[in-house]
Amino acid sequence: MKPETPLEESIPALDEIRKAGKTKYIGLSECSAATLLAKIDAIQAEYSAFETLHETDGLIDTARELNVAYVAYSPLGHGWLVDNFPYKTPDDFAPDDFRRKSMSQVPPFGGVLCQPNTHIQHTHLLTSSTQVPNSKAKTSTKRAIVDEIKKLAARKGCAISQIALAWVAAQGFIAIPGTTKAGRLEENWASREIELTEEEKLEMRRIIDAAKPHGNRYGPAHQAMVGH
Ligand SMILES: NC(=O)c1ccc[n+]([C@@H]2O[C@H](COP(=O)([O-])OP(=O)(O)OC[C@H]3O[C@@H](n4cnc5c(N)ncnc54)[C@H](OP(=O)(O)O)[C@@H]3O)[C@@H](O)[C@H]2O)c1
Repeated sequence: MKPETPLEESIPALDEIRKAGKTKYIGLSECSAATLLAKIDAIQAEYSAFETLHETDGLIDTARELNVAYVAYSPLGHGWLVDNFPYKTPDDFAPDDFRRKSMSQVPPFGGVLCQPNTHIQHTHLLTSSTQVPNSKAKTSTKRAIVDEIKKLAARKGCAISQIALAWVAAQGFIAIPGTTKAGRLEENWASREIELTEEEKLEMRRIIDAAKPHGNRYGPAHQAMVGH
């Protein structure tokens, strides 16, 4: 979607193309619930154990109500929900890697994106099945989510990334992880074989809710483009 073209123009135009039989499906990327003006077949929006924003802004509810397929982009949290996240500071990202600028400016992680247990305040932090005895405010980051998922992955004998992808699939979504490496492509594909039990899904929900990031998803420039 282009900000300069009103959706009231572009979506009916796409609908005309479909009605004329020139295309079968319409998919939208980074839309909001209010954008679903015609029958849209699929939407692509961010979703991962790190980013569940669209569970509360109406997009997922609307997609389910209208039977629109939800294609979850960045299901590995932009590469963080993996066994060996290789970046120690934002400067470790390649100069042309958008994470170097954009992610390092995101308020909850700015400048300390890669450091463990330093930034987000929580009123409570749950472990895999129990509440931490002391309910005093805890400090953690996305790293806390990774550390907890790691325990679940160890029990199931698979990679953290595979749990992250299996969990997105368990929500009924189509995960599209990105990789430049054939071995990882195979590993990610194999996540389709991993079934999470109801108890494991509850465990994931506890982990995610306890360490949910707050604030914008991107730095100012990207945030202005997505608008939500
Ligand atoms: N519609 C939109 O606005 C939008 C926005 C962003 C992304 N997307 C799409 O969503 C897809 C994925 O998003 P994304 O690439 O941003 O994020 P992602 O899938 O959450 O993470 C990709 C990162 O994870 C690493 N990775 C992948 N599999 C791994 C594994 N098994 N173990 C360890 N590391 C692994 C990759 O590094 P290596 O390459 O080194 O393996 C890459 O740095 C892409 O197709 C992209 O085009 C769409």
